[in-house]
Amino acid sequence: MSLCFSSNFITLHSAKHQGLSVSFSSESSPQFIKLFRVSSIPSALPSSPRELYGPIKSSRERPKLFAALTPSEALETAPSTFRDKNPKDINVLVVGSTGYIGRFVVKELVKRGFNVIAIARERSGIRGKNEKEETLAQLQGANVCFSDVTNLGTLEESMNNLGVSVDVVVSCLASRSGGVKDSWKIDYEATKNSLIAGRKFGASHFVLLSAICVQKPLLEFQRAKLKFEAELMKEAEDDRSFSYSIVRPTAFFKSLGGQVELVKDGKPYVMFGDGKLCACKPISEPDLAAFIVDCVLSEDKINRVLPIGGPGKALTPLEQGEMLFKLLGKEHKFLKVPIGIMDFSISVLDFLVKIFPSLEDAAEYGKIGRYYAAESMLLLDPETGEYSAEKTPSYGQDTLEEFFARVLREGMTGQELGEQTIF
Ligand SMILES: NC(=O)c1ccc[n+]([C@@H]2O[C@H](COP(=O)([O-])OP(=O)(O)OC[C@H]3O[C@@H](n4cnc5c(N)ncnc54)[C@H](OP(=O)(O)O)[C@@H]3O)[C@@H](O)[C@H]2O)c1
Repeated sequence: MSLCFSSNFITLHSAKHQGLSVSFSSESSPQFIKLFRVSSIPSALPSSPRELYGPIKSSRERPKLFAALTPSEALETAPSTFRDKNPKDINVLVVGSTGYIGRFVVKELVKRGFNVIAIARERSGIRGKNEKEETLAQLQGANVCFSDVTNLGTLEESMNNLGVSVDVVVSCLASRSGGVKDSWKIDYEATKNSLIAGRKFGASHFVLLSAICVQKPLLEFQRAKLKFEAELMKEAEDDRSFSYSIVRPTAFFKSLGGQVELVKDGKPYVMFGDGKLCACKPISEPDLAAFIVDCVLSEDKINRVLPIGGPGKALTPLEQGEMLFKLLGKEHKFLKVPIGIMDFSISVLDFLVKIFPSLEDAAEYGKIGRYYAAESMLLLDPETGEYSAEKTPSYGQDTLEEFFARVLREGMTGQELGEQTIF
């Protein structure tokens, strides 16, 4: 069974009762129409959302193939596509809509006037803390469809019941734990389900939120992401009327804010080695969301892998700590931990996992911690094999310093880490 909402509008669909489609609206009819963002108000009210959106475009109705080999050639030869339409007539399906970045992507798409279909779980957020009402409030302006991206049949049925065609899929899905099985289930399988379902309902472009760290894949979630990226690229190679934009951001603010309140309370700022083992160009949720939404229409982002960081120079943990103490007006108080401690713990866990397979995720979390303690979230220059701050593109306005200042004033609300603290 799937439930689809647009604020006060609810459609109930039952797998067992395919014919059953009940619509409720606590508001007047004009409100109902507004919520579905029709371009012109029909003379008679439609009986179902399908009529509002018109018939589903099947993938068989794709535009004629064109022999574009590179993005620039595509620019010259591309036939008319959804990009020629007004945003209000472009249906964008967002999966992972309730995540840290996904929420901002939905907000930005709505702000720019797109018709947004947000797929969400009935209980969303970290550890499922949000009930439907909270999810609906969070995703205001979007048509929220409660479904299950981990089950292709359920997802397709929900979309079929919605009766909408899809122009673009935006995936902000990610495993909330980073555990081995969950990474494959979400970063690969569920994301692939959204590609298959999106394609079935007409999508000709897919925007993927990936991560810059997949350049050096040592972790399971990175391998899962890379496998999906490769299949996405293959899909665009096989069908020239389909395209993708793969966004690989550097560190998010939330990943760097974990120590702010501790340091405010007088604790030392903890770093590995000399605090210069790694660096990143952190990007805020609104800035990254704006970049992702640019990928929906920008022709220069078609069929491209796009590493992206925030504004300003790259920052090491040492520089981040210094910035924090400066904002607090306090003397520096650092705790420098040898990275070897992590290596030792990881080797112990790797040994134990052979005897107790249930420790698989614990061992993986250790490796994730080790990875981010030593690897930069910057572009890995293929010419030198080194991370390059200069070659990592910047986007947006928000700085880490402003973010730290805000957390010092208001706390980390809204910036909670995932289900594992290492995220
Ligand atoms: N943290 C960083 O610094 C950083 C840097 C670069 C790139 N990235 C990448 O950015 C991506 C998104 O990160 P984020 O922080 O926005 O992720 P997030 O807050 O953890 O959100 C994950 C999204 O996926 C959904 N999801 C997870 N498990 C699901 C399941 N079993 N069934 C249905 N939906 C499920 C969540 O839905 P619910 O709300 O229902 O759980 C949520 O919408 C990740 O791929 C990450 O690797 C992160």
